[in-house]
Amino acid sequence: MNRRTLLRVSAGAAAGLIAGVRPALAADAEIEITPKEAGPEISPHLYGHFIEHLGGVIYDGIWVGRQSKIANIDGIRKQFVDDMKRIGAPNYRWPGGCFADGYHWRDGIGATAKRPRTYNYWQASMPAGLDHTETNAFGIHEFIHLCRLTGAEPYLAANMGSGSPQEFHDWVSYCNAPAGTVSLAGERAGNGDKEPFGVRWWGIGNESWGCGGDMTPQEYATLYRRYVTQFPAYDPKPYLVAVGPRGHSKDLDLGWTNGFFAAMQDGHRSRVDGLSLHYYTDFRNSPEKVASFDARGWYDVLREALRTETVIEQHWEVMGKYDTGRRTRLIVDEWGVWYKPGEETTPAHLLSQPLTLRDALHTAITFDVFNRHADKIAMANVAQTINCIHSLFLAQGDRYVRTPVYHVFELYRSHMRAKLGAMRIRCPELKVPSRNSPGVIPGLSGSASVQGRTLNVTLTNPSHESPVSARIRVTAGSVTEGRGLALTHADMTAGNTFDRPSEVRPSPLPVKVGADGAEVTLPARSVVSLELRMTA
Ligand code: AHR
Repeated sequence: MNRRTLLRVSAGAAAGLIAGVRPALAADAEIEITPKEAGPEISPHLYGHFIEHLGGVIYDGIWVGRQSKIANIDGIRKQFVDDMKRIGAPNYRWPGGCFADGYHWRDGIGATAKRPRTYNYWQASMPAGLDHTETNAFGIHEFIHLCRLTGAEPYLAANMGSGSPQEFHDWVSYCNAPAGTVSLAGERAGNGDKEPFGVRWWGIGNESWGCGGDMTPQEYATLYRRYVTQFPAYDPKPYLVAVGPRGHSKDLDLGWTNGFFAAMQDGHRSRVDGLSLHYYTDFRNSPEKVASFDARGWYDVLREALRTETVIEQHWEVMGKYDTGRRTRLIVDEWGVWYKPGEETTPAHLLSQPLTLRDALHTAITFDVFNRHADKIAMANVAQTINCIHSLFLAQGDRYVRTPVYHVFELYRSHMRAKLGAMRIRCPELKVPSRNSPGVIPGLSGSASVQGRTLNVTLTNPSHESPVSARIRVTAGSVTEGRGLALTHADMTAGNTFDRPSEVRPSPLPVKVGADGAEVTLPARSVVSLELRMTA
């Protein structure tokens, strides 16, 4: 079981195939990379973030308060700032999520002590006895400060569920009107920020088919037009993101994408720059646990990561029927593995999960899919960065730890702004067990990118028991130097905890450099990142 038994040509999903019959292989896997076929730029925004007023994400996670004994910069947890800088965080989507459609931005400005306590969408899910009313201590100024401290761009979600176009347009003016123009710019200056925030990314609602208003795609399209037609025309030119499908639905929710674009064609076409796609590896209705599982659970989760590719391709195809000029791109602004409740790191941190190496491999597979579709996706945001679902960090009071997922962001950083390279993988498929339907998955998946003379290669070996030797051939130029890092662990259920924060972390991987390429052995259950220096 779980051995590479098929000799069929396999590839990391769409990483490309080397056609023909399998020749005698010197290694388990043959990888061919053509740096000269460099494709689209891999936007840093594919490695983006999502932070919502939910459980312990903002309060206790990011915001510890100005008076806190925990190291902070103006109330923002310092360790968080340092780590987000380290991984080059490109953006944050805020304030939700479901929270956004109940949020009134004016509640979060002005003297903190005078800000109202308001209802938070998530307080109904809070365990009895725990308060989750919104203090509004973290509002737009604090959010923009976080963005500036970490060098990330803001991505704001409008309140469509309980707000109005007027309230939204006022928020846009408050954020972007130049000093000395409208009164809202003066009010912003009075609250400490004379210079405009320069917000470019605007989400018009969130999950309007669900918590964002329970609308049909036609109803949403009508409201969308009202939100965007009177959008105040300040710099920068806005990037308008419409609510898209619930990609983790059984039918992938293609009906939403069809319905929305059909409604927008009906003689009223407003600009749509991005279509938000949510795709959770959704195990909320499965007995699968976060931190204790067997080989079946290991592969079931990784298979769902591979399905990201199908979801992207199918929605892209539908969009192309209406948007023949390809003006609209996908924004995968919520993704991650979502397990059933019961293993929260602390009860108040709703939806927090003690993630493991399995979730790190899921992350790597997902990133390689995003890279390979860099021409279709303008942004992607992990749900959520800290203390919630697919987090990079867990924090409680003065305790703080990086999860295995964080390390994948670190390992993939070199792809940001690089050009996608053509990669073909030949590797026997892997026969895998499952709770429901055993099947086969690619024996290896990955992506490659080029920046100057550096070739970045990321690969995932999903086998929980066997290493894979791989020979990498570069079709143009030659490799002069190679460095590698691998994220793995002897135990597939390993994770990092407050007491053992470095249990899962990358370690150097030997790379053998030859005339036309390199050779590496990927440990079982590993994510590998290679940096190969090339001749001109
Ligand atoms: O990320 C948690 C929730 O998942 C978000 O608030 C919502 O948009 C989605 O359903």
